Amino acid sequence: MLIKTRDDGLAHPFPSEITPQGVYQDRRQLLRLMAGGAAGAMLAGWAARDARAQMPARGTRLVGQTSAVSGATTPEKPTDFKDASGYNNFYEFGLDKSDPARNAHTLKTAPWTVSIEGLVKKPGNYALEDLLKLSALEERIYRLRCVEGWSMVIPWVGYSLAELIRKVEPLGTAKYVEFVTLADRKTMPYVGSSVLDWPYVEGLRMDEAMHPLTLLAFGMYGEMLPKQNGAPLRLVVPWKYGFKSGKSLVKIRFTDQQPATAWNLAAPREYGFYSNVNPQVDHPRWSQATERRIGEDGLFAKRRKTLMFNGYEAQVGQLYAGMDLKKYY
Ligand code: MTE
Repeated sequence: MLIKTRDDGLAHPFPSEITPQGVYQDRRQLLRLMAGGAAGAMLAGWAARDARAQMPARGTRLVGQTSAVSGATTPEKPTDFKDASGYNNFYEFGLDKSDPARNAHTLKTAPWTVSIEGLVKKPGNYALEDLLKLSALEERIYRLRCVEGWSMVIPWVGYSLAELIRKVEPLGTAKYVEFVTLADRKTMPYVGSSVLDWPYVEGLRMDEAMHPLTLLAFGMYGEMLPKQNGAPLRLVVPWKYGFKSGKSLVKIRFTDQQPATAWNLAAPREYGFYSNVNPQVDHPRWSQATERRIGEDGLFAKRRKTLMFNGYEAQVGQLYAGMDLKKYY
């Protein structure tokens, strides 16, 4: 985000993955493969399992049931899959918007485990396949607003992070959650570059992490996440700027200290810990008052007004009651 990027990078390396809207909607009706699966049934012996679990193959349908969580869907038209999977920020794979789609094929997503650590009763290494079955998968259609001034509407598939947090039982002393993402020099060509201190780390306050809108996502557009979008699992926090939503998570740590996040360490004046979407508080280099919706790029396309908390104020506003949001940006 520190580097000015081109706007033309919409190339997609896997044409077979492109799902036209109509086809995708039909699939949503037809395919209910893993949705509604063994919610909560997998916990016995969970932490004891190792990395034998195999990742579902690419192209696996994950279509989830429609979510009942308030704010979990929007009537806005989803961004084309081609744009959502071809115009990305994933600095481990390059700084240009088209780099992740071109380079992320080297990411090895199986086997995959997530380490749960810190102030928690049930720490351990949790296999991806068990995480997938922990709770019923839901479809959530969220706006994603990037601090750079563009936005998309993406149908994600996952469940509330709160489901996982409840199962692993954080201690009463846990006040924050730290999210650490994969940093593997062998498969991620830009890990080691000076743009950030690696790994990419993000954090949330415990009440933010427990909010039902905070999503642990395994898929989008009814299928497993493409690698460039953060396979095999990522966070999506829709009322915060996109960079709070860490991709390719490998560690979730419960702590009593506010986590030092990668962007805050790199440029503290530009990226605060909270990073709530707020049209009244500008980034030092970019106004946050309006945004460009990807896919509406014509010469005369109008910028949209950015909404407080990205339009999720009714759901999350009370988390910040009484806080000075200019100070806690
Ligand atoms: N996660 C990791 N590990 N590395 C990154 O560079 N970029 C963030 C976020 N998560 C990033 C990341 C930023 S700046 C944005 S806007 C979103 O991912 C983009 O998600 P998308 O490409 O799926 O739209």
